[in-house]
Amino acid sequence: MIDKIHHIGIAVHSLDDALTFYRDTLGLDVHAQDTIEDQGVKAALLTIGQSEIELLEPTRPDSAVGRFLERKGEGLHHICFQTPNVDAELDALKQKGVELVDQKPRRGLAGMICFLHPKANKGVLVELATPID
Ligand code: CO
Repeated sequence: MIDKIHHIGIAVHSLDDALTFYRDTLGLDVHAQDTIEDQGVKAALLTIGQSEIELLEPTRPDSAVGRFLERKGEGLHHICFQTPNVDAELDALKQKGVELVDQKPRRGLAGMICFLHPKANKGVLVELATPID
């Protein structure tokens, strides 16, 4: 079951620079910020109503976000759907033969997360997340 759009991920060259727009100009609150080494990103989540904006700066050029920036430049990177049980959701999609990036959920800034392959979603990278309170 998919509940809602949890966040929209945006790839940026500089998190600090992006925050001057999203936090300072638009006035959105940063509610989480962290460096996730295994994904090679420095990320911030900003609250926007019931959803969030996730800003992603690569910590190294060969990370997934680093390669994305190299290919496409800054902009929309992924959409994240919230689900109450990311394990069950991922298993169900696996059963249906959906192409995946992650075979099992892992810890991310938004909670327990996993990515589906863009091929499965008409060219859009989709993340599933179950927030951890
Ligand atoms: Co995300």
